[in-house]
Amino acid sequence: MAESAKAPEQEAQPQAAQSTDAGPQQSQPQPIVPDQNIEVDARVTDNDSSYGQDLSTYTASLTSSVLDYRKENGRTYHGYRDGNYLLPNDETELDRLDMMHEMFLTSMDRKPFFAPIGPSPQRVHDVGTGSGMWAIQFAEQYPSAEVIGSDLSPSQPSMVPPNVRFIIDDVEDDWVDEDDPYDFIHSRFLSFSIKDFPKLIKECYKCTKPGGWVEFQDFDATCRSEDGTTVGAAIEDYYRLIIDGFESQGYDTRPGPKLEGWFRDAGFVDVKAEKIRLPLGTWPKDKRFKTIGAWNLMQVESGFEAAAMALLTRFHGWSTDEVKILAARTLKDARDRSIHPVFHFWVVYGRKPEA
Ligand SMILES: C[S@@+](CC[C@H](N)C(=O)[O-])C[C@H]1O[C@@H](n2cnc3c(N)ncnc32)[C@H](O)[C@@H]1O
Repeated sequence: MAESAKAPEQEAQPQAAQSTDAGPQQSQPQPIVPDQNIEVDARVTDNDSSYGQDLSTYTASLTSSVLDYRKENGRTYHGYRDGNYLLPNDETELDRLDMMHEMFLTSMDRKPFFAPIGPSPQRVHDVGTGSGMWAIQFAEQYPSAEVIGSDLSPSQPSMVPPNVRFIIDDVEDDWVDEDDPYDFIHSRFLSFSIKDFPKLIKECYKCTKPGGWVEFQDFDATCRSEDGTTVGAAIEDYYRLIIDGFESQGYDTRPGPKLEGWFRDAGFVDVKAEKIRLPLGTWPKDKRFKTIGAWNLMQVESGFEAAAMALLTRFHGWSTDEVKILAARTLKDARDRSIHPVFHFWVVYGRKPEA
């Protein structure tokens, strides 16, 4: 890992929107959403039915290695650079990512990004695009833009707006786009995916036009609670096990609070960083937090197993059934309204200075 990745984790202040660079076009930004502790809804019971109601073109040549998905434990995994990424790429996983897309939009007043990119961006890159949902919606919103979504898996739809295309790429390789740089590079939720975030952010800097913007949105995957109800619970054990496992394989599971420093180290100016709270479960009293928590609960229905299966069976000698039992036990805690998990998610953006 690059030297700057070793810097001790520094949490910025909750209400963040912290800027120390006075950029030319910067007025004082409002926080994305007002930060507040998450109050428990005392009315919810285990019989509460609101949960169910709340949840209601590749340019790369499609070589056989790209489409030759690894099949394991009833799931499929990417074929290109086989083994680089430990979560599946099948329909169940794509549905889960789309639920998370909805969770992120709900938590951010339906804004897909925050960098002040202006009305007519030309070249835009969504790094590690997953189901392609963000890239497709951006392309619809900005017809001026040529939007490229990159991923290890060709799992994006083929019926897409004419100004979006998907490429198969390992974004941890050196980037070669500096002769045709981007106005805006976006990355969301690459924790558990990327081993060297500082390098990736430097590659983004290299391939952004002077005056262009880069925005990363990512987790600190630590399982917390504001009232101590996760302490000693199975869900806390799960996250500790998974975080330790991924980190021992070299992946960063907690990039969120480190992004701001990495952006500054890479040379970005007008850097803004803000922390967002994502509850898990329908226990919050506040309606918006309850909806976020419901989407989060929906996604972990398959997510606990998806994150643990390849890691624990490939590297730690677990059987498929053992992982299924672990996931079921963790899901029981997630559904338990007396346990109040909260995750921190960070939005960070910065501008490449004019030459
Ligand atoms: C957790 S998903 C997030 C997807 C999407 N950004 C979103 O927010 O819905 C991570 C994605 O990154 C992709 N990925 C992981 N490692 C990668 C790499 N080295 N290069 C390109 N894509 C990668 C995975 O295939 C997966 O689609």
